[in-house]
Parts: sequence; C-alpha cells; structure tokens
Amino acid sequence: MRILVIGGAGYIGSHVQKQLLEEGFGVTVFDDLSSGDRVNLLPGADFILGSILDKKALAHAMSGGIDGVVHLAAKKAVGESMEWPEIYAENNICGALNILNAMTACGVRHIVFSSSAAVYGMPRYIPLDEAHPIEPINYYGYTKAAIEENMRWYARLGKIDYAALRYFNAVGYAADKSITGKERNPQNLLPIIMEAATGKREKLSIFGNDYDTPDGTCVRDYVHVSDLARAHTLALKKLATDGESFTVNLGTGKGTSVKEIVDAAEKVIGRKLNYDYAPRRAGDPAILTAKADKARQLLGWEPQYTDIEEIIRTVWNLEQ
Ligand code: UD1
Repeated sequence: MRILVIGGAGYIGSHVQKQLLEEGFGVTVFDDLSSGDRVNLLPGADFILGSILDKKALAHAMSGGIDGVVHLAAKKAVGESMEWPEIYAENNICGALNILNAMTACGVRHIVFSSSAAVYGMPRYIPLDEAHPIEPINYYGYTKAAIEENMRWYARLGKIDYAALRYFNAVGYAADKSITGKERNPQNLLPIIMEAATGKREKLSIFGNDYDTPDGTCVRDYVHVSDLARAHTLALKKLATDGESFTVNLGTGKGTSVKEIVDAAEKVIGRKLNYDYAPRRAGDPAILTAKADKARQLLGWEPQYTDIEEIIRTVWNLEQ
C-alpha cells in the first residue's frame, strides 16, 4: 500500500512516516512546509511540496497509486485559534474538505485523521471515553469535531472510510534519534521545558497551582509520539481489512501533572530548572485523561512508553 501522508514533514507526521516505512508501506509526503521541516523527510519517502488549499495539487497527488491518506496537516495552537478563527476555518476545515473531495474524485477510500482530545471540551467525567459529549471550548477543538462530522457523513454516503484518532498529549521523539526536526515557536509544555533547560528561554511558567488535583497543577495524559505513530499503521490495516470507520482515543490512561513533568525533567537533565508559578491559562481543564480501551480492543494498540522519565529522556537525548 502507498500512503499519502499529508502534513508528513511535521512533528507527528515524521514519526508516522518512519513507522510506515519500517512496516514496508510506500510513503509519499505532501506538505507545504509552513510548520514542517525538510529535515523530517526520511530516506525512502517521496515528497510533494503542496498546500491542502490547492485542490489541483491534491487531485494530482492522489491521481495514481495512492491507497490511503493520513491527514495531519493542521494548525494546532489553541490560543491562536480563538484570536484568528478564520485562519483555522480555512486551513483546518476547508483544507480537510478539499482532501475528502480529492479522495472522492480519485477513488481513494481510506483516511486516518489526526483528531484531538480537544473535541471533548470540559470533561463531564474522567477518564474520557469516546462516548463523552463533543463540546469543544476552543475553535481549534471545534475544527477537529467539524472534520470528524464531515468524515462521518462522507462515510455514511459511501464515499470514504475513516479512522479518527483522538490524540491526548503527544510527547517524545523517536528513541533512535532518527527524527531531528524541532517545532518552531513551540507552545506545548515539554518543548518549552527543553527551551528553558537549554537557555533558549529564560524560564518556564507553570500555569496555575490551585487546581483541584493532588499537587494543584493540571493533569494530562502524555502519550509517546512513536506509540501514536504505531496506531496509524494499525488503523490503516484495519480500514484496508474491513472498511469500517471508527473513532478512538489515543492516550495511556495515566495522568501526570505539570509539576510531576517538571520534577521528572529535572531528574533526566540532572539539574534544577528555572520555573515559577503563573496564573491559570484560559480554557485549561484541571484533568484530561483517556479511557483507551477501545483502541486496545479494536486495533490491539498498546502504548509501549508508560514511564514519563523515559519519555522525557527521548527528547533530552536529542537536545544533546
Ligand atoms: C492542547 C489541547 C490539545 C491539543 C494540543 C495541541 C486542549 C484542552 N488541549 O493540549 O487538544 O492537541 O494543545 O497543541 O485544548 N503548561 C504550563 N506552562 C507552559 C505550557 C503548558 O504550565 O508554558 C501546562 C498547561 O497549562 C497544561 C499542560 O502544561 O496543563 C500541557 O499543556 P500543552 O502542552 O499546551 O497541551 P494542552 O493544552 O494540554
């Protein structure tokens, strides 16, 4: 099978590329390099420089020999999505519709889509299962929910089959250091910790220490990017086997607080980090953890990384 990996030059996309290549899939990366990086293009993968807003380029990319699509090309900064929804509407929603339409026109049936725990909004209960109401509280999360809904319709109308993978917090790097591209202007916790550790940033601010959690800081479900990547090949194989669409959470089920991450990072790095406590960040739920049984049952997916220090080490090793 040859897979078109849209957004394949990004952080998660490069790990998906690696997993696909290791499992013997053909890989064509389609990326506009707006946030992705050429260093993330792995030997063995073809590359098309193109935008998901360019319908002709998408149709061309899908015109021959593509058996499935992995779609990871999206903007993902929650705060930015609240300030400039129009950018997120165009890039995430219009772009995804262009992909579904190109697939329909070219007869490409299978799509694995990068969705997010952000579709759930403020949790009504923890851990979050896939049946939890879809009530996003930021525009980024809404774009993911809107794409899921469109995929559901296209599947219902017989045009495609899809796997919607709702990622929790993606962290880590391939342990063999084969992927070296760093995100520009990172907004997520672990890359920010790395910048604080290497002096690129003066200090880390922990957003809030008065949450209703054991140590007062927010709890998240951190899942290693190589584990996430493996779920994509499992999902593609499942779609190719029975053509039945599905939606699954990808998390470990284990919650880790911001303070626990900072403590673990200090252990891995071997010295104290410069950090302080800042006010809460708007829109942050206290706890977000996944019930990930469905991915386990449906795909046989089992996260291999469960130790947060080991996960952080895969990032720190790369920094050095
Ligand atoms: C958010 C989205 C998630 C999305 C991801 C992509 C929500 C609820 N979650 O994850 O769906 O896929 O972004 O970018 O919308 N923190 C600090 N200091 C910092 C940075 C972060 O204390 O400088 C804390 C945050 O408050 C949070 C935790 O670290 O509690 C993780 O933050 P982050 O890495 O930004 O991810 P989420 O906000 O959980």
